[in-house]
Amino acid sequence: MKLTIGCDHGGRRLKDAIVAHLTKQHIQVADIGTYSDDSVDFPSYAEEVAHQVISGEADLGILCCGTGIGMSIAANKVAGIRAAVVSDCFSAQATREHNNSNILCLGERVVGEGLALRIVDTWLGATFGGERHERRLQMITELEQKNEM
Ligand code: RB5
Repeated sequence: MKLTIGCDHGGRRLKDAIVAHLTKQHIQVADIGTYSDDSVDFPSYAEEVAHQVISGEADLGILCCGTGIGMSIAANKVAGIRAAVVSDCFSAQATREHNNSNILCLGERVVGEGLALRIVDTWLGATFGGERHERRLQMITELEQKNEM
């Protein structure tokens, strides 16, 4: 599985911890930055990770910022992206099984590192349930198409 990960300055420490955690498990992860505490604009990183997922360059993406919310709002503007902000393991599992989320968004100012790593493992370990959920995802795709700018 190929993963891509990005962050802004508000999520940089958490992003680094996740990269180290995944690398230890021999999971391939492309780190698109940011790499310092200098203030940057999260939508650029959300767009880059979203494009890598949509193009198939990566199977799944992870985005970290202060809350995870800005990243999710931005990533969800890209057609085909289902980005979920998660701060508990139950939701991490449910959003893969029911929503087939393809980007996980985490807030460094919301969840501690230990919980965040557990959320990442739970999300990566869960699989899409298909069946009735497939129909609902198809409805989301139709919403995107109907409301194209
Ligand atoms: C940056 O200060 C902060 O606004 C950003 O990391 C994120 O939390 C936005 O949703």
